[in-house]
Amino acid sequence: MAKLKIGFIGCGGIANQKHLPGMSQQTEYVDLCAFCDLIPERAEKAAKEYGTPDAKVYTDYHEMLADPTIDAVHVLTPNIAHCEITVAALEAGKHVLCEKPMAATPEDAQKMLDARDRTGKMLTIGYQYRHFHENAVARKVVADGWLGDIYYAEATYLRRRGVPTWGVFTDKSKQGGGPLIDIGTHALDNTLFLMNNYDVDYVVGTSFEKLGRLLTPDVQGQNNWMGEPDHWNNETYDVEDSAVGQIKMKNGAVINLRASWAMNMAEKAGCDNQAHTLLCGTKGGLDTLEGRVRLNHIVANEQTISWVGEKIRGYIPGFSQGPAPLSKEHDIWVKALRGEGELFVTADQAFVVTKILDAIYQSSRTGQAIKF
Ligand SMILES: NC(=O)c1ccc[n+]([C@@H]2O[C@H](COP(=O)([O-])OP(=O)(O)OC[C@H]3O[C@@H](n4cnc5c(N)ncnc54)[C@H](O)[C@@H]3O)[C@@H](O)[C@H]2O)c1
Repeated sequence: MAKLKIGFIGCGGIANQKHLPGMSQQTEYVDLCAFCDLIPERAEKAAKEYGTPDAKVYTDYHEMLADPTIDAVHVLTPNIAHCEITVAALEAGKHVLCEKPMAATPEDAQKMLDARDRTGKMLTIGYQYRHFHENAVARKVVADGWLGDIYYAEATYLRRRGVPTWGVFTDKSKQGGGPLIDIGTHALDNTLFLMNNYDVDYVVGTSFEKLGRLLTPDVQGQNNWMGEPDHWNNETYDVEDSAVGQIKMKNGAVINLRASWAMNMAEKAGCDNQAHTLLCGTKGGLDTLEGRVRLNHIVANEQTISWVGEKIRGYIPGFSQGPAPLSKEHDIWVKALRGEGELFVTADQAFVVTKILDAIYQSSRTGQAIKF
C-alpha cells in the first residue's frame, strides 16, 4: 500500500507537542507533506522539522485542500475554526482528525457530522486522555463487571492556577469558552466513554468569572506548557475561570463535572492537573489517579481498596515524562486510515460532549435546566 499523504492545518502548540511528534512515529505508513498556518514561519518550521523533503507550506488552507494527493488532514486551529475547516476538508475528500473540543457550538458540531455523513469520509476528535494508562485500565475494570450498575460519576479537570498563556485561550470569540470547553471537555469525554452512556436527560450548571481578570499573569496563574512566558491580557480576558455542571442521564445516573483554570482550593482532587474520573456502582467504585486505578470493593466481607495496574504516566508525546512512548492516538488513526482498524473516538460521541458543555453555559446564563 502506498504511503498516505497527511496535511496539518494549524502549526502551533498542539501540533508541535502532540501531532507532529506522534505522526512522525508513523512515517513507515505516512508522508507528512503539507503544513498550513496563518503565521508562515510556523508552517515553515514544522515542514522543516517534520516534513518530507518536498513538503509544501501554505497560509491558506483552501490551497492545501485543493491538492488531490492529500489523503487526510489534522485540524489544529483555535476552536472557532474547527467547523469551517473540517467541513471544507471533508468536502474536498480528506479524512479529518480535528482537535478537541469538536466545535465551539453544537450547531457547528452538527455541520461537521452532516459533512462526514454526506462525504463518507472519516472524522475523529483529539481526545488523547482516553489512551492514558489509567483510563485503559479503568475501561477493563468496568468491562469485567467490578462496578455493577454505575449510577454516580465525577468528571474533574481542576487547576488551582493554570490559565493557558499562549494562543487565544482567554478570547471567547475564538475559543467559545474557558476551562470548561478547554479541559473539562477531556474529563467529560473520558467519563461518558467509561460509563458507555450517552443518553442525557437534562443538564444544569454554572460558570464563574471571578479570578481571571484579577490574577497577575506573570507571577500567578499561568500554565506555561508551551514554555513561552507569553501573557494573557487581563482586560480582554472574557471566558470563565471555572465551571460546574450536573448531567442527569436518562437511566437516572448523575455526573458532576468540574473544571477550572483558577480556583482557590488547596487540593487538585488527587489528579494533579489531569482529567480525572470517579465512578460509583452497585458493586464497587473506582477513581483514576495518574497512571493507575484505585478500586474500592468488598472482599471477604471487608471494604477493600485495591490498586489496579502499574503506575504508568503519559502515553502521548508532549503529555509524557521521559522518552516519548508510541502515541496510541496516532497509531489507531493511521491504522483506521489504512483500513486496518476502527476509529477509537467517534464524532458522534464528541458531539454529545459538545452539546453538554454548551448546555452548562446555557444553564448558567438562563438559570434553567436544559432538557435534551
Ligand atoms: N488535546 C489537547 O489536550 C489539547 C491541548 C492544547 C490545545 N488543544 C486544541 O488544539 C487547538 C489549537 O490549540 P493550540 O494550543 O495549538 O493553539 P495555538 O494558538 O498554539 O496554535 C493554533 C495555530 O493555528 C493557527 N491558525 C489559526 N487559524 C488558522 C487558519 N484559519 N488556518 C491556518 N492556521 C490557523 C494559528 O496561527 C496558530 O499557529 C485548539 O482547538 C485547542 O483546544 C488540544
